Amino acid sequence: MRGLLVGISGGTGSGKTTVAGKLQRRLSPGLITILDQDSYYRDLKDLSFAERRMFNFDDPDAFDWPLLIDHVEKLATGRAIEKPIYSFVESVRTDQTVTVPSAPIVFIEGLHVLDHKALRDRLSVKFYVDTDDDVRLARRIVRDTQERGRQVDDILDQYFRSVRPMHIGHVAPQKRYADVIIPNEGRNEVAIAIVASGLLAHLERHRAAQEKLAADAQVGENGQPRNGEHP
Ligand SMILES: Nc1ncnc2c1ncn2[C@@H]1O[C@H](COP(=O)(O)OP(=O)(O)OP(=O)(O)O)[C@@H](O)[C@H]1O
Ligand SMILES: [Mg+2]
Repeated sequence: MRGLLVGISGGTGSGKTTVAGKLQRRLSPGLITILDQDSYYRDLKDLSFAERRMFNFDDPDAFDWPLLIDHVEKLATGRAIEKPIYSFVESVRTDQTVTVPSAPIVFIEGLHVLDHKALRDRLSVKFYVDTDDDVRLARRIVRDTQERGRQVDDILDQYFRSVRPMHIGHVAPQKRYADVIIPNEGRNEVAIAIVASGLLAHLERHRAAQEKLAADAQVGENGQPRNGEHP
C-alpha cells in the first residue's frame, strides 16, 4: 500500500520544519516520517570558497531532485532510505548518512516542494506555511549568526542578492498549489490541531481507496468481474 505523501512548503524561516515536527508529535508516534529538502543540496566540493559564497542556494537547481524523488518513492513504498548529511558551513555533502524510516504518512518539507512539478504531482496533500517577511528575515539572521557562524552584513547581502528574488519568483507563487495555508507567527495551535485531525481523516480515505484498488486488481487477476462490471 502506498503511503500518503504530504508536501510542506514556505519561505526561508517560515517554520516548515517546526510545523512538520508539531504535526508529527500531535499524531501517534510512528505514523509520520519527515524528509527535508535541505538535506538534498548538491555537493559544491568542486567550487572554490569564493564561488560557494556567491552561489544561489535558493534556486531550485541547487538541489539534487533525482535523488530526493528516488528517496520519496522508496519511503512511499515502505522502504527506509539513507539520507545525505549536508554541511551548511562547508556547502558540501558529507560522507555520512542518516536512516529515515518509512511510515504511513511521509512529509516532504522544503523551499520548493510544491514548485517542482514531478514532486508536486506525487503529493496527495499540499501545505504552505505563511509567515511575514520581516519575521522570516529576523529568524534567519538569528539562525545564520548562531548556527552557521555568519556575519550580519554577509547574511543581508545573500538575502537581497538571491534569497529574496528566489522567494518572489519560486517560493511565494507556490501558495496557489496549496490545499491549506498554515500561519506560523506566534501561536498557531488551533491551526495545527485542525490540520492534524484533517490529515487523519484524509489518511483513512487514502487507505480505503488503496484497499479498493488492491481488491479490484485481485479480482481482475482471478478472472472474476471487477466491481461495477457486468458478467
Ligand atoms: N551553504 C550555504 N551557505 C549559505 N546559505 C545556505 C547554504 N545552504 C543553504 N543555505 C540557505 O539555507 C536556506 C535553507 O532553507 P530554509 O530557509 O527553508 O531553512 P529553514 O530555516 O529550515 O526554514 P524553516 O524555518 O521554514 O524550516 C536557503 O534559504 C539557503 O539560502
Ligand atoms: Mg527548516
